[in-house]
Amino acid sequence: MANDASTVFDVVILGGGSGGYAAALRAAQLGLQVALIEKNKLGGTCLHQGCIPTKALLHAGEVADQTREAAGFGVKATFEGIDINAVHAYKDGVISGLYKGLQGLVASRKITYVEGEGRLSSPTSVDVNGQRYTGRHVVLATGSVPKSLPGLTIDGDRVISSDHALKLDRVPKSAIVLGGGVIGVEFASVWRSFGAEVTIIEALPHLAPLEDENSSKLLERAFRKRGIKFELGARFAGVEYTETGVRASLENGKQVEAEIMLVAVGRGPVSQGLGYEEAGVAMDRGYVLVDEYLQTNVPTISAVGDLIPTLQLAHVGFAEGILVAERLAGQKVVPIDYDGVPRVTYCNPEVASVGITEAKAKEIYGDDKVVTAKFNLAGNGKSKILKTAGEIKLVQVKDGAVVGVHMVGERMGEQVGEAQLIYNWEALPSEVAQLIHAHPTQNEALGEAHLALAGKPLHNHD
Ligand code: NAI
Repeated sequence: MANDASTVFDVVILGGGSGGYAAALRAAQLGLQVALIEKNKLGGTCLHQGCIPTKALLHAGEVADQTREAAGFGVKATFEGIDINAVHAYKDGVISGLYKGLQGLVASRKITYVEGEGRLSSPTSVDVNGQRYTGRHVVLATGSVPKSLPGLTIDGDRVISSDHALKLDRVPKSAIVLGGGVIGVEFASVWRSFGAEVTIIEALPHLAPLEDENSSKLLERAFRKRGIKFELGARFAGVEYTETGVRASLENGKQVEAEIMLVAVGRGPVSQGLGYEEAGVAMDRGYVLVDEYLQTNVPTISAVGDLIPTLQLAHVGFAEGILVAERLAGQKVVPIDYDGVPRVTYCNPEVASVGITEAKAKEIYGDDKVVTAKFNLAGNGKSKILKTAGEIKLVQVKDGAVVGVHMVGERMGEQVGEAQLIYNWEALPSEVAQLIHAHPTQNEALGEAHLALAGKPLHNHD
């Protein structure tokens, strides 16, 4: 295996997705010599198969819905249908612009970018294309791929994963979405906006089951109104092909037929056959285990992103990559508070949250120590103008800080910025109530919810 001075680095990073490239950019910024190894495309899942393409599809869906509903705003327009090739061209244009920008950024930071499939060959080296890249440290950032269920084959034609759904050459007439988590509700939303009949199958009692129950219920109400069907508390039993599509069976005996079925039951880590076990890296169900500073049990090896058992979100990957780079450069770093990570599900309506749910707060602090307040978007001028329904719910520790903000409504994802400052700075409701929120904005609803929690509601009808 060739190994010369030009292949010896401070940090060798395996995987160029959000976690890996953030680590590379920050490490290079701090003066470290960095090699970044990627087998596919720089930018990883987020840029090519995740956040960016799905949000482009969701925006196209929003435009379709607005065109259908234009008359309600006094605008004459006729919805004639979806030109799926043009939708893909729009989506791919967004990706390629960001991809070029990212490639330029990596080049400008003097990072050695290596294209090829890498394999960890020792606690301090990665082999790629017959070349050994040695580093004082190695960062594993090989990400995740869509999971399936035991015995369920994703054929890429009638039974598909989100990777296939992003490239689908048509709008399906009907679709079953297996899994009502984040990916499931986002695709259900897109396809419904594009005109498909959609049925979601979710094993747990609610859609978006990790959210506060109030948010899940509001989402279910909104989806029902949009004509999206769902089977909750329904475990999937199997799928068979029909003449024109698929038929899914549930353990409760029900059957659902559609043209295609999307499997959205989670994403699993990419860690097999990459030399991790051989190097002695501790793992659990394929996830690489790390301490709060993201170091594995092998001191020279760190890991970030979807590969480790933390929230599978691009912005978590960025934060983890930055943390590792700063630690390796000798800076003092602070562990991430994962409850303080903002979460947005970009279906219509959007679901956004930060902090903990009411149920979790009661578990931690006790039933009588938790206070909540809600503000209905019906009382918010801008939301009324947009004709969106929804609610903001706050969870507070009695006489203490706000520990949860849960929002449902169109564009509420954009409100999570202030919500995360409130949570992460441990703000008291009275402190937020003191701050003036601009009128008329949807942001104002967040201010109103805090006014209510501080005991001086303005536009609340309670
Ligand atoms: P997920 O874990 O969010 O949802 C999977 C759902 O499938 C769960 O609700 C689960 O109860 C259900 N399920 C599992 N087995 C089932 C069965 N046999 N029958 C019926 N239902 C079953 O995973 P998802 O949606 O695939 O997303 C993967 C990751 O990607 C998540 O961590 C998510 O946070 C992330 N992501 C984030 C986005 C965002 O931030 N907007 C967008 C898309 C994905």
